[in-house]
Amino acid sequence: MRLNAWLARAGVASRRKADELIKAGRVTVNGEPGQLNTFVQRSDDVRLDGRPLAKQQLAYVLLHKPAGVVTTASDPQGRPTVVDLVELPIRVVPVGRLDADTTGALLLTNDGELAHRLAHPRYEIDKVYDVETWRQPTDVQLEELSRGVALEDGPTAPAEVRRIGGARLELTIHEGRNRQVRRMLEAVGHRVKTLHRSRYAHLTLEGLEPGAWRELEPSEVERLRAATRDS
Ligand code: URA
Repeated sequence: MRLNAWLARAGVASRRKADELIKAGRVTVNGEPGQLNTFVQRSDDVRLDGRPLAKQQLAYVLLHKPAGVVTTASDPQGRPTVVDLVELPIRVVPVGRLDADTTGALLLTNDGELAHRLAHPRYEIDKVYDVETWRQPTDVQLEELSRGVALEDGPTAPAEVRRIGGARLELTIHEGRNRQVRRMLEAVGHRVKTLHRSRYAHLTLEGLEPGAWRELEPSEVERLRAATRDS
């Protein structure tokens, strides 16, 4: 994470004020003067006027996102945001996004390193969606989905597709492009009626009502780290 963001998260100053402290040469990282483009890792020793600053406390939250709530930090239309729902003294931000009318599992964290890795398609993090369409897709259309479909921003990777009822499917993908599931269904001639993410990585919504959230157990965080480790 950038040094100014790190200082803001550590509660030292706003990002703008942090930039001023950096420019004034008052911040060091591992003994070297910090620069505006310095990138801070978790193990770095950051000091202000020679005083060590407490390392940022990391928080990891799983939210059962309800419909009608947006996945941005603020909404020009004044709709509630996922960040408003999570009442934690540490500010966490969503990893990826769900559309306002999509429900389901959403991870929020202030661990920028892990968030960045989880969002990278190379680690193939499972995103499992329950999809309901207005009409029943044919087996051939499900085949097309599973092979990957052409979207305007490029072809999608192969997906796992399972029919769970007439017009209800379970779709597992590893990418997280904007409105990807809706666009994939449109590419095979269907409009999505409801969309719910039932699992993110190994995290399911067991025990969480819509709108409820919980912090992850250390073992769950470790499992996410293991899933994004380069072997
Ligand atoms: N795909 C979509 O189309 N929307 C979401 O909210 C998530 C995945």
